[in-house]
Amino acid sequence: MAFTKDFFWGGSIAAHQCEGAWQEGDKGPAIMDFVTKGSNHEPRQITSQIEEGLDYPSHVGIDFYHHYKKDIALFAEMGFTALRISIDWSRIFPKGDEQAPNQAGLDFYDSVIDELLAHGIEPIVTLYHFELPIHLVHQCGSWKNRQVIDFYLHYCETVMKFYDSKVRYWVTFNEMNHIDPQSEQSDIFTYLIAGLKYSEMEKQIEELAKIGYNMTLASVKAVRLGHEINPENKIGCVFGLNPIYSYDCQPDNVLKAFLDNDRDYYQIDAMCKGRFPKYKMKQYEVLKLDLENQASDEEDFREGSIDFIGLNYYMSSISKPVTSVAGEAALFGGLQNPHLEQSKWGWGIDPVGIRYVLNYLYRKYELPIIITENGLGAVDQVEAGTVHDDYRIDYLQKHMKAVKQAVEEDFVECFGFLTWGPIDLVSATTGEMSKRYGFIYVDLDNEGQGSLERLKKDSFYWYQETIATNGESL
Ligand code: BG6
Repeated sequence: MAFTKDFFWGGSIAAHQCEGAWQEGDKGPAIMDFVTKGSNHEPRQITSQIEEGLDYPSHVGIDFYHHYKKDIALFAEMGFTALRISIDWSRIFPKGDEQAPNQAGLDFYDSVIDELLAHGIEPIVTLYHFELPIHLVHQCGSWKNRQVIDFYLHYCETVMKFYDSKVRYWVTFNEMNHIDPQSEQSDIFTYLIAGLKYSEMEKQIEELAKIGYNMTLASVKAVRLGHEINPENKIGCVFGLNPIYSYDCQPDNVLKAFLDNDRDYYQIDAMCKGRFPKYKMKQYEVLKLDLENQASDEEDFREGSIDFIGLNYYMSSISKPVTSVAGEAALFGGLQNPHLEQSKWGWGIDPVGIRYVLNYLYRKYELPIIITENGLGAVDQVEAGTVHDDYRIDYLQKHMKAVKQAVEEDFVECFGFLTWGPIDLVSATTGEMSKRYGFIYVDLDNEGQGSLERLKKDSFYWYQETIATNGESL
C-alpha cells in the first residue's frame, strides 16, 4: 500500500480567507483587512485606511466564524482525518504587542479545535498565514524589526500552552519563501507576507533580506519554544514551491534555472541544517547588507530545526534564458511552459512537478513531508443544486497519483495530502470568490452577494471515496 494507514487526508484553510467577522470577538485589524478585491487582470489594492465604497473580502470571508460547525461536519462526512487551520494573530493579540491575550479569540479557536477533535479530525495549526496585526506594521515596520520576533514568540507561547492538550501539529509560517532578496517582488506578495509594499521600500534588497532572516529566526525560535513546551509537539514550516525548469539544454540556461530554483531554499536550509546558510551570509556580506543579526542567533538555528516540511504545490514554470526571448510571463517570474495547460488564472498545470519537488526536498533534507496545499482554482457553475467539477477531480487525481508514485516508487516519506480550500474561500492573490477550489460550493459571488449556503460538488463524493480507500481508488 502506498500510503500508511494513518496518512492524513484533508484540507487547508486560512483564517483571513474564510472567517470573516473581522470586527467580532474583539479582533484587531490585520494586514489583509486592508486589501481590496481584485481580479485576474486587476491587482488587489492595498489601502492605508478602510475606504468606503471599496470591497474588502476578508471582512466577510465565507463567514466560517459563524458556520464552522456545519463546515466541519461536512469535512467529517468526506472522511477528513486532518484539517490545517490558521490562527489569526490579531484575534489573540488585537494589536500584536499586548501582554494579556484576548479571551474571546482564544475561546473561538478552542471551539473550532474541539469541533475537529469531536469528529476525529487532527488539527494542524498554522501560526502565521498572512495574518500580521497591522499595528505592528505601523509601530515597528513589520518583520524588518527584531522586536516583532519577540511579539510573535509571546503569541506562539500563549497559544501553544493554551491548546497544549489538544494540538500536536504546528506550522510556524506559511510560505515565507516568497520573501526573496534575489529577485524583484510584486507588491502583493511582499504585502501578503509582511504587510509592506515592495514599491515603497527604501532599500529593497536590504529590507527583504532582513525580513527573510528575521522570519527564519522567528521560526527556529518558535520550534525551540514549542519543543520546550511539549517535546511531543511536531513543528514544521510550510513552503510554496514550484519547480522552475530550464528553458533548454544550453548550459548557461541550465545554471540560470538552478539559481532561480535555489532562491526558494535558503530558509529551508536554515531550518533543517542547524545554521543560516553560509552561502547566503556571504552574499549579504558582499552586498554590504546589515542584517542586525546577533551571535546568539546561532544557537537558535542549531536547536530549532523543524520536524517536518509542509509543501504547497500548484504549478511549475520555466526559467528566463540568459538571452532575452519572447514568452508569456509566469506568476513568480520566469515563463510559462508551452508543454503545459494552464488554469484560467494562468497557473501551469503539472502533476509531474509535485513528484519532482517531493523527490528534491526529500533527498536534500530527509524529513517527513506533508502536502499542505494543492488544488485547482476554477470557475464553477451550479446546476440543480450541485457542481459537476470533473476538471477539479482530474487535476487532483493526477497530482495525488504523482504523490503516490513518489511514495511507492521513489520512497519519499509523505504523511498526508491536504487540498487547498476544501470549501470555497477568498482567493489570496486576487481576492475573488469566483476562483474556487472547494469540494463544497459556497453561495457567494465576487460582489459579496449570496445566501452563503453550502452545496456538495461532484468532487465531494470523489474525495470521500479516495479517502475511504486510502488512495487505492485513484
Ligand atoms: C497559497 C496560499 O500560496 O496559494 C493560500 O498559501 C492561497 O493562502 C493559495 O489561497 C492559492 O492562491 P489563490 O490566489 O488562488 O488563492
